This record gives sequence, structure tokens and C-alpha cells, in this order.
Amino acid sequence: MENWEKYSEELLAFIDKSPSAFHAAANLAAMVKAEGYLELKEEEDWEIKPGGRYFVMRNDSAVAVFSLPAQEAEQIRGFHIVAAHGDSPCFKIKEKPEMTMESRYVRLNTEKYGGMLPQTWLDRALSVAGRAVFTRDREIVTKLVNIERNLLVIPNLAIHMNREAEKGQEYNAQTDLIPLYGEVGGEHFLNRVAEAAGEAEDSLSAYDLFLYVREKGKRIGGNGEYILAPRLDDLQCAFAAMTAMAESRPAEYINLCVVFDNEEVGSGTMQGADSTFLEDVLSRIKEELGETDAWLRRRIAGSFLISADNAHAVHPNHPEKSDPTNRPYLNGGIVLKYHGGQKYTTDAATAARLKALCRKAGVPVQTYANRSDIAGGSTLGNISIRHVSLPSVDIGLPQLAMHSAVETAGAKDTAYAVRLFQTFYEG
Ligand code: CO
Repeated sequence: MENWEKYSEELLAFIDKSPSAFHAAANLAAMVKAEGYLELKEEEDWEIKPGGRYFVMRNDSAVAVFSLPAQEAEQIRGFHIVAAHGDSPCFKIKEKPEMTMESRYVRLNTEKYGGMLPQTWLDRALSVAGRAVFTRDREIVTKLVNIERNLLVIPNLAIHMNREAEKGQEYNAQTDLIPLYGEVGGEHFLNRVAEAAGEAEDSLSAYDLFLYVREKGKRIGGNGEYILAPRLDDLQCAFAAMTAMAESRPAEYINLCVVFDNEEVGSGTMQGADSTFLEDVLSRIKEELGETDAWLRRRIAGSFLISADNAHAVHPNHPEKSDPTNRPYLNGGIVLKYHGGQKYTTDAATAARLKALCRKAGVPVQTYANRSDIAGGSTLGNISIRHVSLPSVDIGLPQLAMHSAVETAGAKDTAYAVRLFQTFYEG
């Protein structure tokens, strides 16, 4: 198997076992733990040493991983940081989820999490994953939950009942997008949640549970050159960054990879990019190394942040939707993203640095800008640098159908990203 095939298989396996942001964070942490990284807890003292490798989680859904070069703190030149996000648009289960319909059907009350293409969630086997909190006596126990069965479906309305459907349809989140769970009199949904966690149902206190599509990711295309999978935005970048982190050793910089949660809903949580998470990790590294604020400020000025979040490839059926000159394609390599309004943090200085890095890594680089008459999306780079202001660049891997329940990307691009991040972390 070629190296890019290996990485695309590993990515698909990672996505398959990461149905929620909680699972993604746990699996990313497990990747580096397997390489000997030690877990630190925010509420405890940290003992960090030159040459050490560590990770810290926040809210079970964001993770920061860092490794220190062997030399003394005075010789460390700064931080090499890659940031990505682990959440994807989906549906969140509300409290009191069961809704009985004409004494026959049980449906689950849900709401949208992030901006998605809602029609892509219909007529597919769905299930539920996330975390649940149980109380036993006075003890509170949080568990990852994944109900590993084909549990739910959001059925479309037949064409005969909606003759207008072919002209395109608006979906009402409280009526059209409610999943069918089963028949009245069957096992209750919350029992299924407790059962999946191996806990008693009456001890279930609260949960953050989300729908996910049961379909596994797969290779696709005449030569297997694409991947079709859920949550490629942004698990493809998160996986590539963490793989590079696990496989590389720092030289003169402290390497750091942070995967935030809640990018799809504005990043404004304690585990999102608009939090102090990154800042807190940097200050604690400074403190534990016995260094001063001045030391940290000098290092931050000499640092570099790569914000990695997937990008739009030219669509085969809608080439006119892309910018006339900046046209990324699947399998064309790293996408460097520009935005005049600086929603992407890239500027000439940081773009040149990224291009040089790609050259050194031997990976192709393409450029992206929105059409000047299309608003485009946002990402986490410019949110994160409000808290820790340092030179940064926005990149992504090219994909189609962003925010669909299943998205399409290039099978070769994951390997390009791994190589880029490795070169960054080793340089
Ligand atoms: Co994204």
C-alpha cells in the first residue's frame, strides 16, 4: 500500500470511531498517548520537563497536545502550532426527547447543531453518540456513549405527498427533520443510552448527545482517488495534524496541536477557539518551565500558527461558484486560504512562509479565495488569535459538499497534510 493509501485508510477508521466531538477528542488523545505522551489535568499541578511530551483535555471535547525540545528554555525559539476543530454540523438531542405520535410512533426531539445541508440527513440509518453523565450515590460519572445500532431515520415525505419537492424544499427543523425512533411500548430511548454506557437508567442525569450517520466512510472513484465520509470537515485536518504530532520530534520550537470544539456554532465556549484554552496552555508551559511573561511574549512573537480547516474544491457541476483564478481541486494538495476581510488570517508574510514550508515538505499548494460576490464561511484562526496574537495562516484540504452528512475529499490530500505538518514540527 502506498503511503497516501495508508493514511486515507487510517483516516476513515478514525472517522468511523469518532461519531461525536467527544469521541474525536478522546481518539486524538489516544493517538498520542500510544506514542508515550503523558496526560495532564487542568485542575492539577503540571510537571513538565525539557524533552517531555504531554496532552491536556478540556470538557472532554477539546484537546491540546505539546512536545518540548530537549534544550533549556532559553534556547527554545517559540511555538509551532496547528489548530483544527473536532465538531461537525449535526442534530443535538433535546431534554425530554421522546415525542409520541398518535399512540403509534415515538420520535426524538432534536435541534440543529451548526449549519448543515439538512436534506442529506434524510432516509439514512442514524444513531446517537456523545457523552452522558450519571450519578451514583454522590459520585458523578461522565461516559462516552455511542449507541452502536441503526437506531433512527428521518423519513422524507413521498413525492406524491409533496409535488413541489423537485423544485427544492425548505426544511423546518421542528417538523421535517425529526427522527423516527420506533413504536410506542418499546424500549425507551434513554434506557438505550444508559445501556450503551453500561449504567442504570435511573442514574442518567444529563447528556450531550448528537445524531450521526451510520454509514462508514469509503474510498470512491474510478481509481479509488476520493474518499466519501462523514465529518471530513474538520476531522481530516485534525487527524493529519495529530498524526504528524505523534510521529515527529521537536527541534528548536515547542510543538503544539490544539483541536477545539464548537467551531460550527461560533467557537464561544470554554473549549472553543474563542476561549482561553490555548492561552492557558501556553502560560502554564511558561510557569512550569520557571520562565517569565517576557520570555513567553518573546516566544509568542517568534511563533507560527497554522489554522487548518477544510476548504472548498471546485465543484464538477458548478465550476462557476469558485473564484475565477483561485481554484483548488481534490488531490491537488494543501489549500492556502485568503480573504480580503481577514476572515482567513493569511497575509503575504505568512503565506510566503507556508509556501516555503510546502516546498520543503515537497507537497503541492493551491490557493483559495471566495468569489468576490459570495460571502463564504468563517473558521477558527482569526478567533483564536484574538486570545494569542501571533503570525498565522489559514489552510485546509480541498473537499466537496461541505456540511453534508457525507462529504467528498481527495484520498491523497491527507498524506500531503501529514507531510506538511511533520515538516513544520521538525523544522
Ligand atoms: Co470546518
